[in-house]
Amino acid sequence: MCGIVGYYGPENPVDVIIKGLKTLEYRGYDSAGVAILNNGVFKRVRAEGKLSHLEKKLSTETFNGHLGVGHTRWATHGPPVEKNAHPHVVGGASIVHNGIIENYAELKDQLIKAGSIFHSDTDSELIAHLVSHEIEIGKDLFHAVIEILPKLEGAYSVLAVHEKYPEEIVAFKSGPPLVVGKNEKEVVVASDLQAIMPYTKNVVFLQDNEILHVTGTKIEFFDDRGQKINKKETKVDWNPELIEKQGYDHYMLKEIYEQPRAVAMAMGPHVDLASKEVRLCKVGFGVGQLEDLEQLEARADWENTLKTFEGVERVFMVACGTSFYAGMVGEYLIERLSKIPVECDIASEFRYRHPVIPKNSLVVVVSQSGETADTLAALRLAREAGAKVLSICNVKNSSMDREADGHLYMNAGVEIGVASTKALSSTIALMNCLAVALGKAKKQLNEGDEHKFVEALLAAPSHMESVLAYDKFFAEAADTLKDFRGFLYMGRGIHYPIALEGALKMKELAYMHAEGYAAGEMKHGPLALIDQSMAIIMLAPSDELYDKTVSNLEEAKARGGKIISIGSGKNEKLEVLSDHYLALPEVEWTINPLLELIPLQLMSYHVADRLGKDIDQPRNLAKSVTVE
Ligand code: AGP
Repeated sequence: MCGIVGYYGPENPVDVIIKGLKTLEYRGYDSAGVAILNNGVFKRVRAEGKLSHLEKKLSTETFNGHLGVGHTRWATHGPPVEKNAHPHVVGGASIVHNGIIENYAELKDQLIKAGSIFHSDTDSELIAHLVSHEIEIGKDLFHAVIEILPKLEGAYSVLAVHEKYPEEIVAFKSGPPLVVGKNEKEVVVASDLQAIMPYTKNVVFLQDNEILHVTGTKIEFFDDRGQKINKKETKVDWNPELIEKQGYDHYMLKEIYEQPRAVAMAMGPHVDLASKEVRLCKVGFGVGQLEDLEQLEARADWENTLKTFEGVERVFMVACGTSFYAGMVGEYLIERLSKIPVECDIASEFRYRHPVIPKNSLVVVVSQSGETADTLAALRLAREAGAKVLSICNVKNSSMDREADGHLYMNAGVEIGVASTKALSSTIALMNCLAVALGKAKKQLNEGDEHKFVEALLAAPSHMESVLAYDKFFAEAADTLKDFRGFLYMGRGIHYPIALEGALKMKELAYMHAEGYAAGEMKHGPLALIDQSMAIIMLAPSDELYDKTVSNLEEAKARGGKIISIGSGKNEKLEVLSDHYLALPEVEWTINPLLELIPLQLMSYHVADRLGKDIDQPRNLAKSVTVE
């Protein structure tokens, strides 16, 4: 997941682009670069690491031009070194890209066989090769983009410029966001509103498979066949609350859209991009005071964490509500990657059931607020029993954060919607990191598997951005969905906790009957619930339980249930069996929860919105339940 900015206007493009990239730095910060038109040719400057490193390099450069593009990178393909930083330049073409080109290996082979020479390990560079080639054989920039679009598969937001067209930017997207704003003298295109707001409040959000053609201060829109289309401007009433909501109708929707960023920020401190390894950062087992965490020496702390984990014989996950479901996802991950037995408990049960907590237990408490009374009580009980307690919180210095032995942070940013969304995604990312760390400590995970799981996690934000496109589907489907008598969410294995979470969201937002079930349990009762008035949501991504899940789907179909299934990639079987089939990118099993969660959140959001419910503050609920 990366940040991109393009500019045409009288200002020095570097100033506008760097200022814009700073507002997008959360989208990626392992390298950055700009390509600025300078006396008729694009001058490219790139730097590894934070944006400040690029700024330092640029401080000695001068530019004489009015057009440029810039990029902050969150590495998915290729380590975060300068040669992989965007913009990628081929011939006179420069491009910046946010997303993942799924078929890049095949396209790259074709281009290399045709004589192209690649200088990076990225998927993005091939777009520059494709654009440059089309222009070399006579197309203009706009038609070069029209020509290459059908070749690209995956999620992408791209800005393309070329020296032959010094006043033009062509932007196109399928998945990750792109928004454009203009005033009478300049045009800014970017991944997010923040980069545009200093220049105009009138913006246009590009939809998937649309093309923006900037020619000087003229902006035109086209479909992917090159047919001109009309797009309406959105006047972003940039008042303080809206700044908070950033143009979204509700905090919850904004926070659903912030999830790719939240996942990136959660894993960021703990994943080494170059080595593709997990090294948990400043967990602080044994450090008495929170204030001392910052002073910890990273390597020594990591060694200390590994040593602590080596002695762990049992893990307890203890939390409430959505945080409990995050703990359940952790159970599947930790048992598979570390072979340590894990027990998941709802905190209000754990604290009163006289739990047997063996020595050498690690008790993980999960809490967005860090103040939930039952979970805090469980933490204290675990400490009294002599267990090591690891807290996973979103609020630093919260009660749980202060009282735990070890600390991990969701880094999701303030979560205002009472219905928790990005805190869950962040926690699932942390559970991935924790499972790998425990697997390494227990010598149950080889290096190859570690790299595989880490690469999958690094790509998660980009995949999540492409899944957000289902927002439009549920905005339309909500009219039908709201009339169902109830909802049955089902999944097997790691999908089961996500089924429970999907049901919780529908309950707490739309106040409708919804149940989450282990799909294998259907024949033990829930099957009796199923008829035309019941909506069945089946989580069926491709993994070892897929075939059994499809059998459950057939059982539900035979009873007349209306079915929404969520699976991996193109899947004719699920399409035939379902009233609606939602395809997810095909990914490692460990990150499927991060992707399948998003349609469930969007579904409950739009049904609740259509029913006129108070989305950010549902009745009877509170953001943090600090009493029993
Ligand atoms: C989830 O949408 C609810 N807001 C609720 O279940 C919440 O997850 C639960 O109260 C736990 O809160 P915590 O994460 O702050 O401990």
